[in-house]
Amino acid sequence: MDVAIFSAKQYDRRFLTAANQSSFHKLAFLEPRLSQETVNLAAGSKAACAFVNDDISAPVLQVLSDLGVRLVALRCAGFNNVDLNAAARLGIVIARVPAYSPNAVAEHAVALMLTLNRKTHRAFNRIREGNFALDGLLGYNMAGKTVGVIGTGRIGLTAARILTGFGCRVIASDPAPNTDCVKLGVHYLPLDEVIGQADIITLHCPLTPETRHLINAGTIARMKPGIMLINTSRGAVIDTQAIIQGLKTGQIGQLGLDVYEEEADLFFEDLSERAIRDDLFARLITFPNVLITGHQGFFTAEAMSAIAATTIGNITAFETDGRPLHPVSVERLASHSGTASAT
Ligand code: NAI
Repeated sequence: MDVAIFSAKQYDRRFLTAANQSSFHKLAFLEPRLSQETVNLAAGSKAACAFVNDDISAPVLQVLSDLGVRLVALRCAGFNNVDLNAAARLGIVIARVPAYSPNAVAEHAVALMLTLNRKTHRAFNRIREGNFALDGLLGYNMAGKTVGVIGTGRIGLTAARILTGFGCRVIASDPAPNTDCVKLGVHYLPLDEVIGQADIITLHCPLTPETRHLINAGTIARMKPGIMLINTSRGAVIDTQAIIQGLKTGQIGQLGLDVYEEEADLFFEDLSERAIRDDLFARLITFPNVLITGHQGFFTAEAMSAIAATTIGNITAFETDGRPLHPVSVERLASHSGTASAT
């Protein structure tokens, strides 16, 4: 099948080409994001393949339909950028990659924790300047610390497993407690108690109307002073204005982010020649105790291979059976209303 792959980076080309070895789809790698301006690049293709910041709104789907595109294969889990009602009306099937590697994201969350704690990012720079002083690099033992995991699905469970291995006391909040976590010795508590008891909080819940700005001025005020907060889930789970205030007062001691509320205008692109127009983001990166990565939690060789294999599997199943392995239906939209998980 002819497939137009939007937002294609060099690494997408590498992993999708490898996954396509025995499927022989004709893959056209297109650098631009899918949008109303670029959608015509899909001419001649039966399928379009898109990523988290691509625009798959009704006008884009209309043009895709006019061009004869029958499948949009998302190479991510989230589908908040798709107008599912328009897709259903136009008869365009939407497929996604529901799960790939919880280890990739959980390990990245722990990498942020350890870097912030032991300040290896600062040590790296100091040593290169011939500065071997230790002042300012004081950390603490992870063993014995209380870590609050908010959201104990696939990624939260994996994070809890790593952290219990360090000797941390893990407490958690989740409306649907995970028996595998309980077996690990994780204690489920009401959200407020997790927030009040934790030395470190790590967010692994999806973005829903209930979790939007779950971390806000009120919850921050109830945290232990100097807490470390890690977010690898979705930017809008945190109220950025409130977190900046918390950093200014010292209530937030350390902040590690892989996601950001307004990341669509920043992440995945090289903007090093331009001024950052987002003043909140610009303020965040001025704090010495803030570490930000650009939505790379999923970015391991294993996760990329799994994403590529499932994406090609979706396309092949659609070509042979008329149904992808992991379709997204309008019913899912109803059950996930407001969900905006990115990857
Ligand atoms: P999952 O669906 O396996 O687990 C999510 C868990 O959150 C569930 O147990 C659910 O009950 C819980 N939850 C729902 N509402 C909650 C609330 N109000 N409070 C506490 N817990 C709540 O999802 P998975 O695979 O573990 O992914 C978690 C999130 O990680 C995704 O929604 C996505 O936003 C993010 N993610 C980030 C990536 C990155 O590269 N940084 C890559 C993949 C996912």
